[in-house]
Amino acid sequence: DGLNTRAKNNGKLYFGTAVDSSGQSDSNYMNILSNSDDFGQITPANAMKWDTVERSRNSFNFGPGDAVANIAARNGQFLRCHALVWHSQLPSWVGSSGFNNATLIQVMKNHITQTVTHWKGKCGHWDVVNEALNEDGSYRSSPFYNVIGEAFLPIAFAAAAAADPDVKLYYNDYNIETPGAKASGAQRIVRLIKSYGVKIDGVGQQAHLIVGQSPSVATWTSNINAFTSLGVDVAITELDIRTKTPASSSAVAQQAIDYANSVKGCLSNTRCVGITIWDFTDKYSWIPSVFPGEGSALPWDSNLQKKQQVYNGILSG
Ligand code: XIL
Repeated sequence: DGLNTRAKNNGKLYFGTAVDSSGQSDSNYMNILSNSDDFGQITPANAMKWDTVERSRNSFNFGPGDAVANIAARNGQFLRCHALVWHSQLPSWVGSSGFNNATLIQVMKNHITQTVTHWKGKCGHWDVVNEALNEDGSYRSSPFYNVIGEAFLPIAFAAAAAADPDVKLYYNDYNIETPGAKASGAQRIVRLIKSYGVKIDGVGQQAHLIVGQSPSVATWTSNINAFTSLGVDVAITELDIRTKTPASSSAVAQQAIDYANSVKGCLSNTRCVGITIWDFTDKYSWIPSVFPGEGSALPWDSNLQKKQQVYNGILSG
């Protein structure tokens, strides 16, 4: 069995990966990506973000996202769409035009409505709001929070639900894989959205983790349960487990365990729908550019060779 076949046999919807533009012109990469035995789901790493889709006001560019949607359709892969409202990769006009509350709500709703409508019927999930929280669980400063207040969250989810009543709507963030102030903040967001009578279907745990500092199975399990007990699904949306490069053999052995633990955590709860790794190969991983000296975070190496030990760790979960 491959990674996706195993996940499906275990009752999950998919095992998947992010894909960025660089990989799409690399035929060896595309061959691995297109093997649905391993990858039953894909997420565009950048192609559906605001700075690509609506770089200037009300002028929409769906080409890069369409390319990813076409790959998914060709391969029969589930498409997770990412991300509608986020403080990062946000064109400066959104925050620097001095929009008042009513105008920024209109701008945000227009972005959501146009984008969700364009990929209606293609996206299985949408990450509606990404990374709204600080580490202490308070709201992060962003044009949306600063001008609209916390109501930007239910307003965004309501707009997405109106544009496509069938797509599952997710709140997505990092460092919410372990219990603590930030995970509690994400649970508060779920309750907030529901308190407005608005639909939220799931929470995405990004899971950008570090070898040897990743959650235990017990931690994964209790924290996933804390979300699903609020009546939402959980997806592990951006899993990668980085280490100092070059990776030592003991780090690789630990990494295989850390990957297995994430799979076991997801398997412990039927409402954990699936796992997405944030690209499958070190060749195109975002880690070295953001965490200098670190990398080797994924189950395929920078020559597109499978790391059998890490791959087996995921399968063993
Ligand atoms: C990353 C992409 O992988 C990079 O190519 C880009 O330069 C920056 O963003 N959390 C998220 C993702 O929700 O969108 C981010 O993706 C990684 C962190």
